[in-house]
Parts: sequence; C-alpha cells; structure tokens
Amino acid sequence: MNPFRGRDVIGITDFSRKDLEWLFRVTDRIVEDIGEYTDILKNRILGYAFFESSTRTRLSFEAAMKRLGGQTVGFAQPMVTSLRKGEKMIDTLRMLDLYCDVIVIRHPLEGAARLAAEVCECPIINGGDGKFQHPTQTMLDLYTIYREFGGVDGLIVGVLGDLKYARATNSFLMGLCMFRPKKIYLISPPILRPREMVIDLLKASGIDYEFVDDMQDVIPELDILYVVRIQKERFPDPSEYERIKGSYYVSLDYLERAKDTMRIMHPLPKLEEIDPSIDKTDYALYYKQAKWGLYIRMALLVSILTDMFE
Ligand code: NCD
Repeated sequence: MNPFRGRDVIGITDFSRKDLEWLFRVTDRIVEDIGEYTDILKNRILGYAFFESSTRTRLSFEAAMKRLGGQTVGFAQPMVTSLRKGEKMIDTLRMLDLYCDVIVIRHPLEGAARLAAEVCECPIINGGDGKFQHPTQTMLDLYTIYREFGGVDGLIVGVLGDLKYARATNSFLMGLCMFRPKKIYLISPPILRPREMVIDLLKASGIDYEFVDDMQDVIPELDILYVVRIQKERFPDPSEYERIKGSYYVSLDYLERAKDTMRIMHPLPKLEEIDPSIDKTDYALYYKQAKWGLYIRMALLVSILTDMFE
C-alpha cells in the first residue's frame, strides 16, 4: 500500500521506517527509468508559498513537478501577493488550495505547515518551518545515505554545527532515530546542542550518542560527517550569534585523519564552515545529495498524487 497517497508531509516522525524505505524504492524506480514518468502528473498543479528564502527546496520541487509533466504556481516573495495589502496568510493559502492539487509551504514560524494542513483540503508539504521540521530534507538525506552506503544501520554519523537552531539537523536526527546507526556524535559548541525534545527521542531510540565539542576527537571514526551552517537569522539574541560565529570549521587538513570512505553531507547553503577546496574531493557528497533531492521529491509527488505505485 502506498503510505503517501493524499497525505500531508509535516514532520519526519509522521512516517515510519517502512514508509521511508517504500519511498526510497519508488525513487530508485524513477531514477532507473526516468523517461517513463515524463507526463505522469500532466494537468496537475503544485502550488508553492515561500515566506522565507530558499534555493534547493523550491527549485527542486518545481523541477520535480515539471519533469513529471505537471505545472507550478506560487510565490517566493510574499510581498508580491495580497499579503502586502494585509491579507491573512490563511486566506492566501486558501486560494492556493482552490487552484492547486498539492502545496509546498516554507515559513519562519514553527507550526505554520501544520496550520496550513488544517485549513487546506489538498495535501500540504512542509518545505521547512522554523527551527524544527524539514521532512523532505531528511528524506533526501536518508535516501543519499541509502544510495551511497546501502543504508544507515551500523554507520557512525557525526552531526556538526548549529544543532540548536537548524531544522535540517533536528529533522535529520529525528529521522536517524528510526534506523540503527552504530553511533551518533553530536558535535557543536555546548550552547548549540540540540533541543531537549530531540535528545529525548535519541534516548528513547536506544542509539548510542555522545556530545563532542571538537570534531578532531572523532573524525577518524566517522562514516558520515553531516555539517550545517550557523543559522544566524534564528538567533533571538544577535550577541549570542556574535560570540559563536566561526566556532567550527572543516578544513582539508582535518580530513587527513578521516577514513577514505568518509563522506561529508550538508543541506546547503554552505557559508564559512567548510573549506571550499573540499568541494572537489571524494569526501564531498553535498552536491550529489542535492541532486538526490530532486528524485526523492519526484517520488513523493507521484506517491501523494497518484496510485501508480502500490
Ligand atoms: C536548509 C533550510 O532551509 O533549513 N536549507 C535547505 O533547505 N537545503 C538549511 C539551511 O538553511 O541552513
């Protein structure tokens, strides 16, 4: 049974490991035979409502829809809509709901996608809301690991950076809890550790995890190093950001001690936290990861909107 048909996608924990593995298999089938799916979503429209900046999430959803023969309408700058005249967000979303078959929303406030799902008839996909949820990023992250390593189970994963404010890492950690990694290292300055709810999930999952301040202590052990930028815009106190900026950096020298098979993932955008000379090495998985994002979003749209896969 297709576990995604007609469903909202609000948080990664709304789905099970089995659901995610089902989606990975659908993605594999699409990747293998991409030409077969070019008009599967003909006459379908994806609406997008982006209240916060985005490159990959919006463009890959748009590209995914168009590669499946569908079309898109929406906005990435809310101030070109009647929101500028004072229209309430909910009414703006209601209009997309009338015109479209599925809606992707991104918003700076946590809970915005859940609220959208309550007022809209068509399925809502959360393209990131606030500091917490970014389920389709996690789907593509886990799919990348599945493609590159054959699965998550047994791997040693380091997650480095702003684990407090980054929804990409919060969602990723919640996603990892559904699998059986051998160990998770939470690498960050102490004030940027994940929020309690994520730690509670890690505890409940029984996965071995450890807080680490300096990535150099663990780099030789890692199979994956997942890096995220400091989320400057989400710091309630700018002086807190000033104190912490530049506090972690992955340099090419550090990688001399890493396994040859270690891979660096990053949701992007990357700013100052990774040495750009790493981009050309085999360690860098992040561009490929962004490409898998297109395919997993194609699979998700086909699965939500059709009964093509059972
Ligand atoms: C992330 C986001 O928006 O949360 N970007 C993305 O969707 N690939 C990560 C970030 O902004 O740092």
